[in-house]
Amino acid sequence: MLASSYPLIDLNTFHMDVKAQWFASFKSKAELRALLADSRISEEPLLILGGGSNILFTEDFEGIVLKNNIKGIQVFEETNESILVDVGAGENWHQFVVKAVDNGWAGIENLSLIPGSVGASPIQNIGAYGVEVKDVITSVEAVNILTKESRQFSQAECQFGYRDSIFKQEEKGKWIITKVRFALMKNAVLNTTYGAIKDTLNKMGISIPTVKDVSRAVIAIRQSKLPDPAQLGNAGSFFKNPEISINQFNSLKENYPAIVSYPIDATKVKVPAGWLIETAGWKGKNFGTYGVYKDQSLVLVNYGNADGNDIKKLAQSITHSIWEMFGIQLEIEVNII
Ligand code: FAD
Ligand code: EPU
Repeated sequence: MLASSYPLIDLNTFHMDVKAQWFASFKSKAELRALLADSRISEEPLLILGGGSNILFTEDFEGIVLKNNIKGIQVFEETNESILVDVGAGENWHQFVVKAVDNGWAGIENLSLIPGSVGASPIQNIGAYGVEVKDVITSVEAVNILTKESRQFSQAECQFGYRDSIFKQEEKGKWIITKVRFALMKNAVLNTTYGAIKDTLNKMGISIPTVKDVSRAVIAIRQSKLPDPAQLGNAGSFFKNPEISINQFNSLKENYPAIVSYPIDATKVKVPAGWLIETAGWKGKNFGTYGVYKDQSLVLVNYGNADGNDIKKLAQSITHSIWEMFGIQLEIEVNII
């Protein structure tokens, strides 16, 4: 049953006060298929919603919003070394991480405290602190919106990249992810290469960390620089970190000796967009109802009653200024609706 004129303010972490023309949630593939049988599905725009933590609504959604509530965390296969776990797409990502960490299953502890649902995690290949979800995904199950058939995408078929997958490219808008299979490790091989993790563990007085220690360190780092969406509306990084050629980087370094970079390959580096935006003077800018977060310039925030269009325009102004100052084209990470 589709409800009409449904408020979305509590279903998006930017807290945009918009409505869906039609709305329903589903707890199983059967419920999803029943909803997809509605004739309006082929006629109206459709939006699949998880936790709403990577979306900026700029207006009411004139179409159908379907919220994924498929739950369940089940061990599919277990050996002495590893564990394959099937997780319903509507599970909360961080709650799944907590369960894995509590069981001593390693692989996703660096991805602690990322908001949103398990089903959205493959879409932009969520990543943080040296780990991307592609490192632990073995397959993704999805239902085709037109045919209602279910199919498995292997890890390779997902074509994962930095904040990218086939679900953002040629298969965009065609599938509803219902389940994700993860391969986690029982004998932890921890990734503490990200400098801030090592420093935080040192400050915590931990020299031989456990899976739980790394998770705690990541949570502490994130809480120190990212706003809690429950307190301050936001969708995490608004932009991707751009990749530029080493030649361009070297010439920028002459004018900006402090510029930061991460190696990609022999010809390219990644530059933190947060550094560019801060250097261009945007950090902490407050425009009344919206602005740039004071501790992390990649994050645009809603101070209360912001209009999504103002945040979109701010993003455009930032993009323009970064182009003018550095000759670097920023790309927006958040889905603007
Ligand atoms: P939504 O915002 O609901 O949806 C995002 C997109 O996926 C939409 O296009 C939607 O239609 C589609 N979608 C959602 N579920 C499905 C499904 N089941 N089937 C098909 N399509 C679907 N991201 C990172 O990668 N790393 C971070 O460190 C990080 N930190 C963040 C910190 C904060 C404070 C916030 C607010 C966000 C952060 N994010 C981060 C972004 C966000 O958490 C992720 O993109 C997350 O995966 C979004 O999940 P969601 O369920 O909220 O997706
Ligand atoms: N920086 C600044 N000023 C700022 C922000 C950052 O100079 O205002 C500098 C930092 O000092 C540091 C560098 O930029 O040298 C990187 O900063 P940080 O470690 O905070 O990470 P990030 O590159 O800004 C990325 C992801 C985050 C992820 C973190 C941790 C993207 C677009 N963002 O941010 O993901 O949590 O790394 O791995 O890749 C998200 O996608 O929503 C998100 C939050």
